[in-house]
Amino acid sequence: MKKQKTLKFPKDFLWGTSTSAYQIEGEIINDWSEWENKRVKSKKFKVRKLKEEDYVCGQACDSYHRYEEDFYLAKSLNTNAIRFGIEWARVESKKGKFDEKEIEHYRKVIESAKKRGFKIVLTLWHWTNPLWLAEEGGWTNKKIIEYYSRYVKKIVEEFGSDIDYWVTLNEPMVHISNGYLTGKFPPNKKCFFKARKVFNNLVRAHKEAYKIIHENKKNAQVSITQLTNYFEPAHKWCLIEKSLTKLFNYFWNLRFLNKIKNHLDFVGVDYYFHDRVVWYPPFKKNLNKITTDMGWEIFPEGIYHVLKLLSRYKKPIIVLENGLADKEDKFRADFIRKHIYNVYRAIEEGVDVKGYFYWSLLDNFEWAEGWYPKFGLFEVDRETKERKIRPSAKVYSEICQSNKLNI
Ligand code: BGC
Repeated sequence: MKKQKTLKFPKDFLWGTSTSAYQIEGEIINDWSEWENKRVKSKKFKVRKLKEEDYVCGQACDSYHRYEEDFYLAKSLNTNAIRFGIEWARVESKKGKFDEKEIEHYRKVIESAKKRGFKIVLTLWHWTNPLWLAEEGGWTNKKIIEYYSRYVKKIVEEFGSDIDYWVTLNEPMVHISNGYLTGKFPPNKKCFFKARKVFNNLVRAHKEAYKIIHENKKNAQVSITQLTNYFEPAHKWCLIEKSLTKLFNYFWNLRFLNKIKNHLDFVGVDYYFHDRVVWYPPFKKNLNKITTDMGWEIFPEGIYHVLKLLSRYKKPIIVLENGLADKEDKFRADFIRKHIYNVYRAIEEGVDVKGYFYWSLLDNFEWAEGWYPKFGLFEVDRETKERKIRPSAKVYSEICQSNKLNI
């Protein structure tokens, strides 16, 4: 019989769960909600055999009213940290006019998280925009720097002292590629020049936000989250595949971070994807031995490689998202254990990983895919909004509590 081994994580390691405002709060009006409504009404809309409301965020998980319960649930998992977001469209639904009622709402949310002893990771922008901004061209408009800075300044002035870690931008590369190259996300453009503009504006906006946050608090911890894929050539001997791998790695994983590397206190990383690169279109051929409900390959070793890759910035790293859609909860426990094991491997080799956050606390609105993907440690009943723990959550909870992984 194999002897059991206990892997101990560093003291003060952050164990957390992640959510985003739009995906859980409910009743938000922004560029996404507009698009969803238009989309389901359009004649072209034919995605799977689901009902229209399965593609509209609507009331989401009603976390706007149930945040106390959500924090209670997160705490019941023995997590010591939590990542959530502020919805820009809520606090500045009218251009230049902050809604004090909504600011007060977020004050209560933050206080409630603090009261439970969580380290707070706050996301300031998670792909969604107020309508007035979308009407002015969103992130293609160079005025975005001024607008975004004004918003960041307000939030920092209000809540600066309560936030432990700041995420200025969630996965900028996804907004650029899905919003401006493939057209899958609003504003549904396919234009390289616009994508380039958005890239540059996101870089500038982050740098400005970094300065604003640091003016408020010198030792603030500021980053973005970078969706980082593990690319590897399908055939190690194939020079074309090797070169393509380097290219993808540079453009998708590193380029944005390289531009902002002097404005980062830590690196926030989201890991979901492994890409075995082949030399022919679509340039990717995964073995797909096990896939999630969304058809994404489960490849835990990838998180180790990604952490090694990002260690080049010589900053602490926090895994701010890692998770899977698994309605039946068949793979989740194993998924979590194996990914955490690979995080441990990276730490053992000297990578300064400070935390791991599972995506997501709750089943939530999965963007263009709507409601069918179930990422939650807790199931959420779409009608009653009742939360119910999944068995895998208990496995995660044990790891968080003991700060150890038994293998
Ligand atoms: C995003 C989340 C999303 C998750 C699963 C991440 O890229 O930040 O909002 O729900 O992936 O697709």
